[in-house]
Amino acid sequence: MSLVLKEKDGGVVTLTLNRPDKLNALNAELLKELGMALHGLVAEADVRCVILTGAGDKAFAAGADIAAMSEMTPIQAKQFADMGHRVGNSIESLTTVPVIAAVNGFALGGGCELALACDFIYASDKAKLGQPEVNLGVIPGFGGTQRLARRVGAARARELCMTGDMVNAEEALRIGLVNAVVPHAELLPRVRETAKKIASKGPLAIAAVKRVVARGADVPLQTANELEATAFAALFGTHDQREGMRAFVEKRPAKFEGR
Ligand code: COA
Repeated sequence: MSLVLKEKDGGVVTLTLNRPDKLNALNAELLKELGMALHGLVAEADVRCVILTGAGDKAFAAGADIAAMSEMTPIQAKQFADMGHRVGNSIESLTTVPVIAAVNGFALGGGCELALACDFIYASDKAKLGQPEVNLGVIPGFGGTQRLARRVGAARARELCMTGDMVNAEEALRIGLVNAVVPHAELLPRVRETAKKIASKGPLAIAAVKRVVARGADVPLQTANELEATAFAALFGTHDQREGMRAFVEKRPAKFEGR
């Protein structure tokens, strides 16, 4: 049985973590399949947006697989953490394709970290998110301390990582961890709607937003603004810029071609 399911609808691909009996806990096999699925998308030129979600009604992913981790040596733990980081980096490096996390239940530990590597998160009103690793005597290992701090601020990240507390969807929305809270049954239709909207825009512009926001976050503001201005200017050499602006002037919908 495949641990990651892939479904394609036009330019929108849905990847589903598929270990529902273990609340989609992330073991090495699942991470490997997810990594391969993400890697495969690079070659699919028609993919415009990816949705990442969890199978079943209870969880996006309830964390890294605790049973698998329980006997790891430090070297094995490092290899496992590296594997988790590679997946997070792959999501961020899909520069031409935004990835939306549809958090349909528990997103804990590695599950929360996976969602944080996505461009943004929509959550079901039943979702619970958190970094409970301290309850197990460890810390987040797939980027949680860093991406959570960048998303919600260092103080809130410290609080979540130090208490191990879960937050419900409303609280996650309040602190900026998720972008929207949606009634449980409407989560995927709502995320698909947003994904289709993104897929209808100029792909080069979407790619530039993703790249500039990501790269800009790690450098001084003036350098980041320079990145933005350069990317803005580069788009003026594209068909899509000509088409987008002409279509506005001619009062018709634009037909973007990604060139
Ligand atoms: N790793 C491995 N297995 C996990 C898991 C994880 N992170 N989270 C859940 N599971 C498994 C359970 O062991 C159980 O398997 P079993 O039926 O073979 O016993 C199954 O998933 C269902 O989980 P269960 O605990 O029975 O569900 P629940 O509704 O009572 O509780 C949680 C849900 C999320 C509160 C609870 O599963 C939990 O605390 N999970 C661990 C969360 C965590 O610490 N994550 C960070 C890991 S670094």
